[in-house]
Amino acid sequence: MTTQATTSSLDALTSLSKRRGFIFQSSEIYGGINGFWDYGPLGVELKRNIKEAWWDDMVRCREDVVGLDCSIIMNPQVWEASGHVGGFSDPMLTCRQCRRHFRADHMDDLIAQSEWIASLSEAGDADENGMLTLDQAKLERWIRKRGRKQAKGMALVKDATTHLEAVARTIGEAPRALRDVLVVLGMPGLPDESDPIPCPFCGGDLTAPRQFNLMFKTHIGAMEDHAATAYLRPETAQGIFCNYRNVLDSYRIRPPFGIAQIGKSFRNEINPRNYTFRSREFEQMEMEFFCHPDEADTWYTYWRDLRYNWYIKLGLASEKLHLRDHDPDELAHYAKGCADVEYDFPFGTSELEGIANRGDYDLTKHQEHSGKDMRYFDDQTRERFIPYVIEPSGGVDRAMLAFMTEAYSEDEAPNDKGVMQKRTVMKLHPRLAPTKVAIFPLVKKHGMPEAATQVYEECKKAGVVAFYDEKGAIGRRYRRQDEAGTPFCVTVDGDTVSDGTVTVRDRDSLNQERIAAAEVPAFVAKHLRSE
Ligand code: GAP
Repeated sequence: MTTQATTSSLDALTSLSKRRGFIFQSSEIYGGINGFWDYGPLGVELKRNIKEAWWDDMVRCREDVVGLDCSIIMNPQVWEASGHVGGFSDPMLTCRQCRRHFRADHMDDLIAQSEWIASLSEAGDADENGMLTLDQAKLERWIRKRGRKQAKGMALVKDATTHLEAVARTIGEAPRALRDVLVVLGMPGLPDESDPIPCPFCGGDLTAPRQFNLMFKTHIGAMEDHAATAYLRPETAQGIFCNYRNVLDSYRIRPPFGIAQIGKSFRNEINPRNYTFRSREFEQMEMEFFCHPDEADTWYTYWRDLRYNWYIKLGLASEKLHLRDHDPDELAHYAKGCADVEYDFPFGTSELEGIANRGDYDLTKHQEHSGKDMRYFDDQTRERFIPYVIEPSGGVDRAMLAFMTEAYSEDEAPNDKGVMQKRTVMKLHPRLAPTKVAIFPLVKKHGMPEAATQVYEECKKAGVVAFYDEKGAIGRRYRRQDEAGTPFCVTVDGDTVSDGTVTVRDRDSLNQERIAAAEVPAFVAKHLRSE
């Protein structure tokens, strides 16, 4: 029986991920660096397969989308025109005690993850609705024990004698929601200050929110002055808008058409967190689809549904995948429609990809700032117009995290002696799996290694990514490949040498079937399609 419950454990996934070489912390030997990740031998293959699947489905298999690869650093005027210099910022709070920074709009999540806030239930009695009645004696005990350890920066913990009485007066006997309790404990102004929730990490006093621009700055050339300032791109999209005219003028294509790009983007996130989900360096897969304004609604619906189904076809078929249309009050001021593809990660439901109808906002802005005409002249209708843009914009790292979360399962499989044992298996779609087939000689003699090597070579020749392994008990070799997500294992045994057949074991069903050794490449290739 497969236990989906274990998939909710991010710890189990990160541990497998490190153990098998999917994802490592960046610069780990120096203690790491927050918000940056490295992809190991299996991880880089999985990531490449996700990008290849996207590129094949979005560019190569279509006649109306072409590709592009732009530089990461662009003329800084691009970011003035796009609005990123003026407006690409998040509200940030800083703790006056521990100096940590927090995104003001993430406070509820941070409260939910805070150790000291979780232990606050010991300072009173909570009812089933999460309402807490603080109890003076219990609060004092909490301050002395948990509070001193976990909320060192809190005024109440540092100086209970001065503050306890004021807290008792304000709290009274009334049950309060956790947020209200925190406002009171936020000291020293007590309620109705401007949201004085204490630091979720140490309990210290937080500053008022300040806007923090997320673009990484650098300098071009030898002088580090203002004139030399440049930015690492925070999205790949602007490179596409800047090249829209070049593509139109150089390539025989006309609206409706799209330009796609995959590449690195950089955002100086205030709180990088949830493993690779919110990183400071990440990859995007973006496509800008240029169409006549009258056709924009139809194309928006088309791309929204197509992108949602893309994740399903590659394995996110469970009830954890959602397509959520934005409410009108959530839309950016220029957006005419927007939807998110969301996934239920172990840390909550979050966005994998956004699909937006951006209207003519971006091309109009670049026309204004660059002085270049961004209108398209349709020589059949004699109409001149700025195309509307439909943008499906996804993150490679987030897609990979979702595919890995979905794939992670624990079940039971027989060991070498036929005894059922717990196994961990990554049930990745064969198209995404880093290795497609593993080939094992049963023993290292009687011609089996030679026969297995031949199957391995034939797979490589056919472009099927294969792995050869002759070390250790066969059961252990299977387990390693299960954790790597390899969909098929081929065992070469005594019969192979006499009748030319091999055993193919299916990773998910554990079914074994006998096929001709010469058919292995075609057998595996047949399963790599996702349609
Ligand atoms: N051009 C539109 C745009 O960039 P976005 O919603 O800011 O829109 C698009 O980003 C996608 O890029 C997100 O859906 C997400 O998958 C990915 N992404 C954004 N910020 C990220 C981060 N800090 N870490 C990892 N992926 C991120």
